[in-house]
Amino acid sequence: MKTEVLRKEEVGRAAAVIKNGGLVAMPTETVYGLAADALNGQAVARIFQAKGRPMDNPLIVHIAELSQIEALVRAFPPKARLLAERFWPGPLTMILPKSDNIPDEVSAGLDTVAIRCPADATARELIRLSAPLAAPSANLSGSPSPTTVQHVIQDMDGRIDAIIDGGDCCVGVESTVITLAADPPRLLRPGGITLEQLREAIGEVILDEAVLHPLKNGQQAASPGMKYKHYAPKANVILLEGSEKAFRDFVNAHDDGQTAVLCYEEDIPYLTVPYLVLGKAEDYAEQANHLFAVLRQADEKGYQTVYTHCPRTEGVGLAVYNRMIRAAGFEVMKLV
Ligand code: TXA
Ligand code: MG
Repeated sequence: MKTEVLRKEEVGRAAAVIKNGGLVAMPTETVYGLAADALNGQAVARIFQAKGRPMDNPLIVHIAELSQIEALVRAFPPKARLLAERFWPGPLTMILPKSDNIPDEVSAGLDTVAIRCPADATARELIRLSAPLAAPSANLSGSPSPTTVQHVIQDMDGRIDAIIDGGDCCVGVESTVITLAADPPRLLRPGGITLEQLREAIGEVILDEAVLHPLKNGQQAASPGMKYKHYAPKANVILLEGSEKAFRDFVNAHDDGQTAVLCYEEDIPYLTVPYLVLGKAEDYAEQANHLFAVLRQADEKGYQTVYTHCPRTEGVGLAVYNRMIRAAGFEVMKLV
């Protein structure tokens, strides 16, 4: 299949592809999404083929206006309304009881559906011109999510109908996922909207165990996506916990020609080992924004081992930690 790369101005053409049951990769403020008409089960099934995604991992439905939610959910509790008013459009996905209009391909047989209203103007225009869009991240299953159009082309060229070039994504990690199908609500995946912001808006929010820890044998994932080894580069990623000095000494001592470091700007003058920069030490938003791109770069350069700082789990740091700990297969090394 020939994959067309479209300019933002050609969004009308992309909408025609969607209405025909085709697949379009679209920019969003978090990461690029691979979109199909959410109400067309056959079109949605093609997303799973193109990504190589397990069919039991449900998709997020993207809407352009709050009014579109009525046809998609059975209930819209007051806390969900509060969150929508506060954080939509933006990087927040809410899980709610699904209506009968949602095809099984979208919800993977669950009784709930994930809904998000993205902030990106092109994504919203595409939705307005076509339909609510089911869209996972536009990467091959298991690869880091795409934050540039080049990443999407790398993974999806020849597998989908079209890609809209919307430039680089500004958040850089996938949306925050919260379920309101349970009370108290539960955070399933941290992202650009922080746990602190959610608690401030609606009070108690439980942090699901799978955000920070591997699932125990036989334990059910509240969010099916959590059970897969996600965000996995080819290199062996290891998180290092310890002081800045211990970090720099350790990585400099492990320069074997096949090893690189994901570092903070402040580390640069002290490093003798190859490095890729995540951002400033205290700026988790900047680190989130660069994370997937530097993981892809590490693979392109063929590094076997990648060491990185273990982030603090506060604010957007929780989202950075959650992605890194999965990229590392939960391997953290304590430095003394
Ligand atoms: O920022 C984002 O959310 C991006 C952009 C494209 O919007 N999308 C994205 O989709 O990250 P995806 O499919 O890569 O991640 C969706 C996550 C998965 O972990 C999935 O298991 C979970 O949301 N999910 C979807 N529907 C669910 C449901 N009904 N119940 C629990 N978890 C659900
Ligand atoms: Mg994904």
